[in-house]
Amino acid sequence: MRTHDCMASILHALLFATTARAFYLPGAAPHNFLRGDQVPLFVNALTPMLTGSDDAKLKSLINYDYYNPRFQFCEPEGGPQKQPESLGSILFGDRIFNSPYDIQMLEKNGTCQTLCVKRGVTPEDAKFINDRIREDYALNWLIDGLPAAEMKLDTRNGDLFFDMGFNLGNDDGPYHVLPALNNHYEIVLRYHSPAPGKYRVVGVLVWPSSIGGSQEESPTCNTENPAPLLLTEDQTHTIRYTYRVTWNESDTPWATRWDNYLKIFDPRIHWFSLVNSLVIVVFLCVMVSMILLRSVSRDISRYNAIDLSEDVQEDWGWKLVHGEVFRTPRNPMVLSVMVGNGAQLCAMVGVTLVFALLGFLSPSNRGSLATVMMICWTFFGGIGGYISSRIYASLGGLERKKNVFMTATILPTIIFAVVFLLNLFLLGAGSSGAVPFGTMLLIVLLWFGISAPLSAVGAYFGSKHGAIQHPVRVHQIPRQIPPAPKYLRPWAAALLSGILPFGAAFVELYFVMSSLFASRAYYAFGFLALTAGIVGLTTATVTILFTYFILCAEEYRWHWRAFLTGGGSAFWLLAYGLFFWASRLSLDSLSSAILYLGYLFLLVLLDFLITGTIGFLASYWAVRRLYSSIRID
Ligand SMILES: *[C@@H]1O[C@H](CO)[C@@H](O)[C@H](O)[C@H]1NC(C)=O
Ligand SMILES: *[C@@H]1O[C@H](CO)[C@@H](O)[C@H](O)[C@H]1NC(C)=O
Repeated sequence: MRTHDCMASILHALLFATTARAFYLPGAAPHNFLRGDQVPLFVNALTPMLTGSDDAKLKSLINYDYYNPRFQFCEPEGGPQKQPESLGSILFGDRIFNSPYDIQMLEKNGTCQTLCVKRGVTPEDAKFINDRIREDYALNWLIDGLPAAEMKLDTRNGDLFFDMGFNLGNDDGPYHVLPALNNHYEIVLRYHSPAPGKYRVVGVLVWPSSIGGSQEESPTCNTENPAPLLLTEDQTHTIRYTYRVTWNESDTPWATRWDNYLKIFDPRIHWFSLVNSLVIVVFLCVMVSMILLRSVSRDISRYNAIDLSEDVQEDWGWKLVHGEVFRTPRNPMVLSVMVGNGAQLCAMVGVTLVFALLGFLSPSNRGSLATVMMICWTFFGGIGGYISSRIYASLGGLERKKNVFMTATILPTIIFAVVFLLNLFLLGAGSSGAVPFGTMLLIVLLWFGISAPLSAVGAYFGSKHGAIQHPVRVHQIPRQIPPAPKYLRPWAAALLSGILPFGAAFVELYFVMSSLFASRAYYAFGFLALTAGIVGLTTATVTILFTYFILCAEEYRWHWRAFLTGGGSAFWLLAYGLFFWASRLSLDSLSSAILYLGYLFLLVLLDFLITGTIGFLASYWAVRRLYSSIRID
């Protein structure tokens, strides 16, 4: 079973990688049904949901399997069967099973049907269910790749949109001491007929409701003010699950069936954020080019002119440290490993965004984003090894083999350790979110079986190309460093410089966080790509600026500072993550809190590596340009 899962994942991953160029992705081709065809309904893990109102908070981060026995949902004959999923989909928490719902295209329209009657629901189960309802858990169903949604009204512009998932129950506060469990589902399936006799599913809506009273009688499916079904926690209960399917014709064609789901975000906010970021970037670029073009060219001409006219003269500014700038920094090993891994991550993000922009990561391919990211990460091991070994040689490092080994193993090991620890907490909480053993094995295989060897190959080419030549030689005896102004101290510089890239990404970040943690759909990839580009550009310019400042202050240890200054936005990301926790989450359980902190830590770490690398490489380039333009006697 495990190896089978694993094989299926590999196959799916490879399939995805090879067919990504063909226009129809697996799962993206329309499925035509004939009248009376079985329309399978799949069930996914239950997730905590952000309920409609704006000040709603997410109460948990833990997913539960639909067939967790404590929920007492009806199972299909022969037991639930796991559906094949892509690697990314599993990593992002999808656990898809089949279900006993009997749905046939255009048949039994509006007929009240009983799914099953569950007897012997114990008080412990009742308590478990009630707790999950209080935490706003939602059911996630899939029909023909479309998630079942609740139709909601956007209060800002009066548009109707589909909010994925629907409530497990109702916790309407004052009237009920106990929450009501939804045991009846009004399923409205919208279909579109592209040709006579052929039908396609283009919308899945569910209105859940709670029907109390005797659960043993034949059902009426009467949803007009029924007494709710309350599960008291002192006796055994019987629950009757009923459903009614209504087929509604729709003129939405198959190609645009996702539009309703993705309407959640107001594009004006994205535009606002983008314009805001653009203003910052233009402002910055003007500032930097002014400083760099005017002061630097003035510096250079003065350096070069004075030399000609006078025999004895005193150097000043950044020229003073020309014999120091390429001195080996402390811990060149750690720095080059970080830059190598950062470069690998940069390449991964870049290519993933290109894929997203080209529309390959369509929402009907669940988890395609994470799958593409994993595959890119794996195959870009070569880039990491190459950059790391060249930077290491340029910094004057001598332990080449150790560098190759550390580049290939350190970061995967750290990430793995964190994920493993989080997994333990998830397992402890009985969650289905824990990454299955087979998937873990697959990831180990990808990382240590493909990525690490590629990294070694990259390192081989890197050491063949050798160290980058420096325009000036390093003096034998290090110079004294005068005390730097306060704002140029490493941490101050990192925090100051981090504000700009963070500010540029701020609004987009909110949506990304909501989609990561509150399972909201995120498909504003155009905005995301532009924002990422702006963040990269801002990081590079700001870091170059700060490097110039510290060199002018005769502080020549710029290597680590450039990395730290570039990675400054990560500290703001951390602060923002904590703010997000305070404002949008109210996590009661320890496991949820640890989970959140663990994921946040990974996010911050990756951001630090990526932006730090951008800052370091940009500064390296600028420093080399700077010192190759002056004459040194
Ligand atoms: C199903 O019933 C609803 C109302 O009960 C009706 O509007 C709809 O047209 C029916 N669909 C079909 C395919 O008969
Ligand atoms: C289904 O169609 C009926 C009749 O056209 C309409 O009254 C009802 O609102 C539709 N339901 C949905 C969910 O679109």
